[in-house]
Amino acid sequence: MARRESKRKRPLREIKMEKAERKLESDVFDRNTLLAIAKLRAQGHFETVDYPIAKGKEANVFCGTASDGSKVAIKIYRIETSNFIRMHEYIDGDPRFEGTSRGRFETVLAWTRKEFSNLKAFYSAGIAVPKPFAFLRNIVVMEYLGEGGLPYSTLEQVGSENPQKDYQFLLDEVKKIYQLGFVHSDISEYNIVVTDWGLFILDCAQAVLLAHPRAEEFLERDVRNLVRYFKKQGADVDFDKAMAYIKDGKPVKKGLEALV
Ligand SMILES: Nc1ncnc2c1ncn2[C@@H]1O[C@H](COP(=O)(O)OP(=O)(O)OP(=O)(O)O)[C@@H](O)[C@H]1O
Ligand SMILES: [Mg+2]
Repeated sequence: MARRESKRKRPLREIKMEKAERKLESDVFDRNTLLAIAKLRAQGHFETVDYPIAKGKEANVFCGTASDGSKVAIKIYRIETSNFIRMHEYIDGDPRFEGTSRGRFETVLAWTRKEFSNLKAFYSAGIAVPKPFAFLRNIVVMEYLGEGGLPYSTLEQVGSENPQKDYQFLLDEVKKIYQLGFVHSDISEYNIVVTDWGLFILDCAQAVLLAHPRAEEFLERDVRNLVRYFKKQGADVDFDKAMAYIKDGKPVKKGLEALV
């Protein structure tokens, strides 16, 4: 007869981790989110939702598998526990989202659509972001940036191997985003992953059009974050030069059409 393990004797850490995992799932899989997952699955975007990768401030990210065996990232925005008041800082003033209701539910849905629209515009312009596949309700399905079971690490976790080159690469990406008519608005070492094919930028939901009244302020913050981080890593950096570099050129502004 198999011996039942007494709960009391199990190490506290194991029990704590189990509890944390249950918590990670329980605040995201409400009935309507499960229905949306089933619909995305029926549309062929993935076969299975396999395991959680991360829990961010606003969303839980899962790894899934498509029918051809490839992996996808499934980012599910939490409706009940996301900071929807903060989201309005980036929604109000973006002409694509004029008239979005201030309610929690509508805000999170607009935010999800915004992330997908931004990813699509960026990816089509050749900017280093994960390829977006689909969105529905509070879920975005995109290319999985990872190897085997593990997502690639962020720049914050592993540091930069070649700070001068990485700094220049990211300035070029920020410049491409700007010339396309957007500001990412959350660029930092926490939202950049280090893959085998170079750096990729995540977390594009808060990106705004240049028409947003605070676009300039957000751009300066993004550039200051890069300057601060890469200075610490030993690169030769200069905030004013970086700003001039990003703004130099002929913008190919996307406008309201950058909405799916
Ligand atoms: N496409 C992806 N492929 C692999 N891992 C991903 C992908 N997207 C997100 N992740 C993982 O999930 C984490 C959180 O993702 P992201 O930053 O997009 O979400 P968030 O909820 O906005 O997070 P936060 O608020 O903490 O910045 C990332 O640091 C990364 O580890
Ligand atoms: Mg993030």
